[in-house]
Amino acid sequence: MSDALSATTPRIRTAIPRRFLMCPPTYFEVSYSINPWMDPKRPVDAGLAERQWRNLRSLYRDLGHEVLEVAPLPGLPDMVFAANGATVRDGMVFGSRFRHMERTAEGPAYLAWFRAQGYADVHWPEHINEGEGDYLAVGDRLLAGTGFRTDPRSHAEAQEFFGVPVTGLRLVDPSYYHLDTALAVLSDDEVMYYPAAFSEGSRAVLRRMFPDAILATAEDAAVFGLNALSDGRHVVLPEAATGLAKQLAERGFEPIGIRLDELLKAGGSAKCCTLELRD
Ligand code: ARG
Repeated sequence: MSDALSATTPRIRTAIPRRFLMCPPTYFEVSYSINPWMDPKRPVDAGLAERQWRNLRSLYRDLGHEVLEVAPLPGLPDMVFAANGATVRDGMVFGSRFRHMERTAEGPAYLAWFRAQGYADVHWPEHINEGEGDYLAVGDRLLAGTGFRTDPRSHAEAQEFFGVPVTGLRLVDPSYYHLDTALAVLSDDEVMYYPAAFSEGSRAVLRRMFPDAILATAEDAAVFGLNALSDGRHVVLPEAATGLAKQLAERGFEPIGIRLDELLKAGGSAKCCTLELRD
């Protein structure tokens, strides 16, 4: 569909109810720095972080989605970023193996939750990968980030495990260290992304796969506008990402702006706090 056509005749957008896993920010703080957003000297308001996180949870429930919770563990301040806990597809769970030792204990903690819930096909990974931070499902394939966290060898491991095509994309800007900070999936065949976060070759791949994609400005990317979650109709994203909200509305989506500034101090926002359970 050409831009002119999509701007005048937006597609009919239907929300599909989802199941999400979230982790309360009970032990959230910025006590170490593993990405450029994290400054341990900058104070975090724990109460505000909790309120902002609860707002996100309520919003999901109001939109008709089911939200499950995993118990937070002391000493794991980034566990609130549930997206990193695993990658789930067709009820199969591909575990996470974190790049930094500050987060390594989160991998087994999330897998224990899945086992306790009765998921039978649970895979402990051989290679480093940070779950849905770097793996994004779009239709019947997976987009897979690398460059900062997930080892490119993990992409082949995930393809073998899930039996779906995995397309690797290289991230080049340390501020956008996970794929879900630079690209958001909007529907089974639409994405939005920030081109400058990707290598030249990966930008060419994205142009081929998604010629009509929404492109984010540097400003919208910097407020984590791409750390967005779409249910096919509603797109939950940081409210400061006004340019993206406008473009989404033009395509017939319903953008819903939220504030998660306290969590942004650790380099995460809405999508990072949400692990989709694709059962
Ligand atoms: N502080 C965390 C880290 O650097 C933030 C993780 C954000 N999560 C995400 N899915 N992008 O690992």
